[in-house]
Amino acid sequence: MTVSERLQPSPDRLGADLDELATVREPTRAGWTRTVFSEPYRSSREWVASRMRAAGLRVETDGAGNIVGVLPGRVPSAPALVTGSHTDTVEAGGRFDGVVGVLGSIEVVRMLRENDIELDRDLLVVDFLGEESNEFGLSCLGSRALAGELTTDHLDRRDRDGVRLGERYAEFGLEPSGVLEAAARFAGRGALHRYLELHVEQGPVLEQRGTAIGVVTAIAGIHRLVADFVGRADHAGTAPMAARRDALVAAAEAVLAVRQQGCGAPVHGVATTTRLDAPPGSPNVVPARIRMYAEMRSVDVGWLSDAQRRLGEEISLRAAEHGVDADLTWSVDNECLPADADVQQVITAAADSLGVGWEALPSGATHDAVHIARLCPMGMIFVPSRDGRSHCPEEWTDLEDISTGIRVHAEALLELDRAR
Ligand code: GLV
Ligand code: MN
Ligand code: MN
Repeated sequence: MTVSERLQPSPDRLGADLDELATVREPTRAGWTRTVFSEPYRSSREWVASRMRAAGLRVETDGAGNIVGVLPGRVPSAPALVTGSHTDTVEAGGRFDGVVGVLGSIEVVRMLRENDIELDRDLLVVDFLGEESNEFGLSCLGSRALAGELTTDHLDRRDRDGVRLGERYAEFGLEPSGVLEAAARFAGRGALHRYLELHVEQGPVLEQRGTAIGVVTAIAGIHRLVADFVGRADHAGTAPMAARRDALVAAAEAVLAVRQQGCGAPVHGVATTTRLDAPPGSPNVVPARIRMYAEMRSVDVGWLSDAQRRLGEEISLRAAEHGVDADLTWSVDNECLPADADVQQVITAAADSLGVGWEALPSGATHDAVHIARLCPMGMIFVPSRDGRSHCPEEWTDLEDISTGIRVHAEALLELDRAR
C-alpha cells in the first residue's frame, strides 16, 4: 500500500469534531455565532486546543491569541510548514467556514501519526484569532498580527460602543503590546517554509461544475467605505419636498450606487452595502444623520481602484443633489493577492495523483493566507459549498467532500515538506 492509500481521514471522527464544535455558540442567536472576543469564542478555543493536544500536537497560544499546535519534524532547524484557518464565525453564520481548515488539519496530523509518518519540517497547525471582519472593519486579526501588519492605529479603532480594539484585546486577556510583538516570532521571510490552507469555497463554482477541488489562484482585495451623510432635521409633515436635506434619501441613493458599481465588474468584482446606522429617529422627522458601511472586492486591481473612485464621485454627487454632505472614509482591508504558482502546482499534482478533479478559481472571500503570504509562499485548497451558500446558517459541505479535500491537503503537505 502506498503512503497516499494509507493516508485516509476518518469521516466519523471528523464529523464528531464538527458536531462538537458546533455546540459552542451564542445560545440566543440564530445559526452559529462565535464572534471574536465573545464568551462562546473563548470556550471554543479551549476546546480546539484540547483537540490539538489529543492529536499529539504541542500547543501554545502566541501573544496575538493564535493557537499554534506544533508537530515536531525530524529537522528542527528547517523552516516550518504551516497550515490552519479560523474557528470564529460571523453573526448567525455557519459551521464550516474556517472550521474545516482547522479541524481538517488536525485530522491530517492524526492520519500522519497513525501511519508513523514523520515530516522533515515542523508542521504548525494554527487556529488564527478573529478572521472574520469585525466592528473595527478589520479582518484576520491573528494572521495580520503575526505578519506584522497590525498597527497601533488599528488598536485605536473604536467599535460602535466607542471601545478601542486594544481594550477589547485586553478584556480577552491579550496585552496589546504582546499582540504587536507577536510578529517578532517569524519576522521576515525565511522562518516559515510554505503555508497551505484548506477552506470551503463559499461560492457556487465547484458545485455547479461538479468538481471536487478548487485550487485558489488569487484572493480578492477588499476596500471598505464608511460614509457619513449629514442633512437637516425638519418636520416630516410641513417641510416642502424640494426644500429637504434628507440624509436617508442620500444614503439610499448611495446603496444603489454601490450595487450599480458591483454589477459593472468585468471579472470577479462585487460591491455590498453591509449596514446603515441611524440615530433613534422619530416617525415624523426628516432624517438628519446616517452612517453607511460598504465594501468592494475584486481580483482585478485596476477595476477595484477605478470603481472606488467612480463610486466616491457618484455618492458625493447624488448626496449634493439632495443638499446632504457626504463624508467618505475609505480603508483597505487587504490588497488582492495571487497564490504562489509553485504551491498551486503542488496542489494540482496532489489532486492528479489521487485521481481527484480540480479547477483553478479566484477567492472572493478573504483568508488568513493573505497575511501569512508576507512570511512565506501560500496556497489554498477549496472544497464545494452546497448551493454556494456561506456566512449563513445554511452553509454546508458534505463530509465526503471535506474528506476528499483533506486527502489532497495531506498529499500536498507531504510534497511541500519535501520541497526545498
Ligand atoms: C471573510 O470570510 C470575508 O471574506 O470577509
Ligand atoms: Mn473563512
Ligand atoms: Mn468568513
